Amino acid sequence: MLENVSKTKFRSGEQLRSQVEVVHSSLKLLGKRKNPPMNNGDDGFTLVTRKTRSQKKVRLPLASNSSDKKNLVIAEVSRDLAIKQVQKSRSEIEASEFFKQALCSLQEGLESSKNGSVKHFLCYGLGCFSSCPIARHQLGFLLALKGHLAPLSVLLYDPLFTPLERSLLIDEFGLSLIGTNEEGKRPVAKEGCTLVFAPHCPKQLTNNLLWANWHPELLGRCLLLANSFNSVANNPASQPETAEYLLRIHEHTCEVGLKNSFRLYDVFNDLAFHSFDTEKISQDFWINHPEPIYPEDDTGQVIRNGQQS
Ligand SMILES: C[S@@+](CC[C@H](N)C(=O)[O-])C[C@H]1O[C@@H](n2cnc3c(N)ncnc32)[C@H](O)[C@@H]1O
Repeated sequence: MLENVSKTKFRSGEQLRSQVEVVHSSLKLLGKRKNPPMNNGDDGFTLVTRKTRSQKKVRLPLASNSSDKKNLVIAEVSRDLAIKQVQKSRSEIEASEFFKQALCSLQEGLESSKNGSVKHFLCYGLGCFSSCPIARHQLGFLLALKGHLAPLSVLLYDPLFTPLERSLLIDEFGLSLIGTNEEGKRPVAKEGCTLVFAPHCPKQLTNNLLWANWHPELLGRCLLLANSFNSVANNPASQPETAEYLLRIHEHTCEVGLKNSFRLYDVFNDLAFHSFDTEKISQDFWINHPEPIYPEDDTGQVIRNGQQS
């Protein structure tokens, strides 16, 4: 039933606003009703009408009581609003100078990693894009990159994604979600270059990813767009035990900064493409690689497997 409603599409901001007005009117109306509204048909929907200037009508799914109905309508409005906002952000980014520069930096990163093109796309720690503008613009950027690069797969994981966000990522934006919390410990795809996007993620998460790919062939196929390794390495407050693999690979890393020319400063600040010059590294370098263990009180903001509710 909800599926039927979710197929409603809003074509413009104007239409969305008028739809929201109608929904608000309907919610008020529902609040005033003593008895549940009559079903007007057998299609699982109740037609709620109210005389407005334009005689607009909104079809609501049947629910057992008016508070369920309100929740359904609110969920639908939130869903449509979130879709609209992400699409708007994607369009803005695609048309921006920032995106042009980002594509140049990406190309530079690919060339230095000796990878021809991006075949897979992996994203960690995007955040709650239906409520947080930073995460929303980062998703807009991811979708713009997906459109440009046409990778074979796009996988995402953030333990904080809400059920609404998970459903939008899959059904609306055609992306795939990783089913379990791997804490970033995912080896890149077996063939082709994987672009890993981990915007403003804890350095422990990046460290875990490096550990899981601690092999010349794996890291050689990885292009990592994450917080600048140079910033971490040059920060005197950085604790070596929380970024062991990041600090070990740092001297063999080619870093191409993402020019932060987007109109909002804190969406893409301190991010850089990192590629790894693995061909010149001796075999001994890779041998010793125990799984990282972090002090209990210093896991950064990495949410551990089993930790989230
Ligand atoms: C500092 S926030 C960054 C959010 C957003 N990308 C931004 O730039 O504001 C770190 C993000 O890492 C996510 N995170 C924490 N543990 C994670 C894990 N085990 N796997 C993937 N993401 C994780 C958090 O949920 C959070 O969204």
